[in-house]
Parts: sequence; structure tokens; C-alpha cells
Amino acid sequence: EQQPILIQGPMPIEAEKFADRLENVKEEKSGTFEFYIGTVDDYPVIVAKTGKGMENTAAATAVAIEKYDPAAIINQGTSGGHDPDLHVFDIVLGKRVTNIGSLKTSHKEDGEGMDPTTWIPMDLMANEGSAGEDPDAENIRYFKGNEDLLAAANAVKDEYTKGEVVKGTIGSADVWNNEVDRIQWFHEKYGTSVEEMEGAAGAQIAKAYDVPFLGIRILSNNKVNGGEYNPNTAEANQEYVYKVVKEYISTI
Ligand code: 5AD
Repeated sequence: EQQPILIQGPMPIEAEKFADRLENVKEEKSGTFEFYIGTVDDYPVIVAKTGKGMENTAAATAVAIEKYDPAAIINQGTSGGHDPDLHVFDIVLGKRVTNIGSLKTSHKEDGEGMDPTTWIPMDLMANEGSAGEDPDAENIRYFKGNEDLLAAANAVKDEYTKGEVVKGTIGSADVWNNEVDRIQWFHEKYGTSVEEMEGAAGAQIAKAYDVPFLGIRILSNNKVNGGEYNPNTAEANQEYVYKVVKEYISTI
């Protein structure tokens, strides 16, 4: 039997447009996670409406893998720009995804205040065997986008006319950053192109099960260059991801 391709979207506006494009759809629910089970070009495709944030995404990814055994996962939706050269409606293909909320603060005593610029990355995947000190625990953990999914996304990028499609780094956390200096700090230290609240959670669980994964994020806003929030980007991204899925299906 063919293994389905799983397309994740956090909010209704980020999932339902793709779900509308499925044929032979039936809906299933697990907890608050909604799965639209259908086909594209006679190939099984499941759209998951995960809800927002890292926890929902991690849980919805594990549930989907256990229930549906997907061949590949695309996590897609809106994002905020960290790169001044990227504009609202541009799309970032996640060559890498990283958790930008996983941090260890510096040591300060009572009354010494707080200084987020001194915080260091904390790799949640280090120290797996013990609670001891692992020198790698202070490295940034990047989850790599799957090469075959990246190739399919790249193959149809010229069909997207509302902006540029570029490869980049997606940063995720349950935080919406609006401080430009902080955004620039992530852009410099982590190389982030955009931020959102789901990709790294999906990537971490996909890796736990060894399922190919790619994040595809459209900019709905970019604080760094004054790009105002535009909710229509959510639909534009689903149109593009639909083309990516058709292309990927044609190769398998
Ligand atoms: N920062 C964080 N999340 C963002 N999102 C869109 N833009 C941003 C941003 N600048 C997405 C998240 C989440 C919802 C709040 O919108 O992925 O699902």
C-alpha cells in the first residue's frame, strides 16, 4: 500500500485551503488535531490541522506518524522575516530548522538583572544518555530538510509568481519576536531567515521516527524591513505547497 504524504498547517487559514484541494476526502480527529484524508493525482495525501505552537505540532506529528505511517511530512504556514532581503509573500524552503526557544541563561545573582544577549543555545537532543555535562549541549541543533522534498520544491519554484522562493533557515519557538535587535541577534547567531512556532517541533519528532521532513514557510510579516502582516499569504503558501506535492508525487 502507498504511504501518504502528510501536509501540516497550524491555523484553519493555513490548512483548510489545501484540504479543499484534496479529492475523496474523509475527516478524522484525534484530540484537537484534525486530519483530512484524501488524494492528489490518485496518491494518498493527508492534511493535518495541528493547531498553533510547538506542543500541538509535536503531538500532532507523533499521532499522525503512528496512525498513518506517512512517507514524508511537509510543515507549512506563515512566518515572520528575520532577513531584511526577504519580503512579505516570499517563501523559505527549510534547508535547516532550529528551535530558537531552547536557551540557557547566564548566571546572575539577586538584583543583577537579566541580559538575553548573553543567553546560549541549549541542544535538547544532547545528553541523551545521562544528565552529565555534554560539550555539545551548548551547540545549536539544526534539523536538515529532506533532499528529495527540497528538490521537488525547487523544481516548481518558478511557478510561484507572488514572490521569491529561497532556501534558508527556519527558527521556531512559542515566542513572537517584535524586538528588531533580538531578531537581528537570531539572524546573526542562528542564521535564521524567518521565525514561526511549529517547524522545529515537527522536525524533531519526524527525526525521532526517521520520516523525511521539510518546512515551507511564507513571510506574512517582516518586522526588520517594515513588512506589514498580510493574512492572504497563508493561502498563497498552500497553493505553492500543492504544486510541490504534485511534483513530489510524480517522482515516487
Ligand atoms: N513570529 C512567530 N510566529 C509567527 N507566525 C507568523 N508570523 C510569525 C512571527 N513573526 C505564525 C506562527 C503561529 C502563528 C502565530 O503565526 O507559526 O502559528
